Amino acid sequence: MRIRKAVFPVAGLGTRFLPATKASAKEILPVVDKPLVQYAVKEAIAAGAEEMVFITSHTKNSIMDHFDRDYELEATLERKGKEELLNAVRDVLPPGITCVYIRQPEALGLGHAISCALPAVGDQDFAVLLADDLIAGSFQPCLAQMQRVYQEYGASVLAVQRVPPEETHKYGIVEVEPIGPGLSEIKNIVEKPDPDKAPSNLAVVGRYILTPRIFKLLDRTNPGAGGEIQLTDAIEALMGEQTVLAYEFEGTRYDCGSKFGYLKANVEMGLQHPEIGAEFRDYLAELTHDWEAGGAAASAKSEKAG
Ligand code: G1P
Repeated sequence: MRIRKAVFPVAGLGTRFLPATKASAKEILPVVDKPLVQYAVKEAIAAGAEEMVFITSHTKNSIMDHFDRDYELEATLERKGKEELLNAVRDVLPPGITCVYIRQPEALGLGHAISCALPAVGDQDFAVLLADDLIAGSFQPCLAQMQRVYQEYGASVLAVQRVPPEETHKYGIVEVEPIGPGLSEIKNIVEKPDPDKAPSNLAVVGRYILTPRIFKLLDRTNPGAGGEIQLTDAIEALMGEQTVLAYEFEGTRYDCGSKFGYLKANVEMGLQHPEIGAEFRDYLAELTHDWEAGGAAASAKSEKAG
């Protein structure tokens, strides 16, 4: 039992990053040297997926172009003997991996975007990855960890993590019954509840393994939070029929849908980067030192003035 298809809803407008996202997709924003969406695709491939299904909109041609072969570029790099760059370019989409693009005709919400994937997914279990959530820093990528759980239990699995209670309004929040270390069964799920209405502080992050039953349930889902057709609401209906598990994955999740999370991802991934990591570390150490010295000088000055 293996997940072969991975769905990437990439039709969102990316308004939080305007003007950077005026003419290109937010999922193409780079973290150090790879676009956000490439990290997600790599994670899906590492978990065994072979078909990448992108739910796009008319402003997202850059995503299609990125995962297309560029023969001219490859030929130029080859001619110039730029082996490493050539491999980096070819590695964008390894052999045997196919991409399917489906247009979401209207931005009606995440649930609606997922329902657009039906013609490509059919009656198979599948994964959903939200490229905004970059997950790194673990021995095994997040979706591969979830795949292990899926193989053992044969049920839908949602990645979850604890968030500060005041942040529940940003996430789908679950109430669970533990069944093992880091693993529990979801008993209740609510989209973006205010802290006083949240059943817990266990939040859904952008990784899901779902059964195809979700498509039927999405068809019946009315607009919910924010007037959008919410995946969370269809998952709630799915829980009425099937087991849905919550898995507390190992690793660090960066919310690259926010400027602060995106910067954190760049800094931390930059520090680990094989080519520039050491230089960047020295630079940050120097910068921190300068800031501390500047801070000490400023407070000495204000003490004197006081
Ligand atoms: C979506 C889901 C939400 C989930 C979040 C994870 O919200 O609707 O349940 O917790 O992704 O990133 P969005 O961030 O698209 O508003």
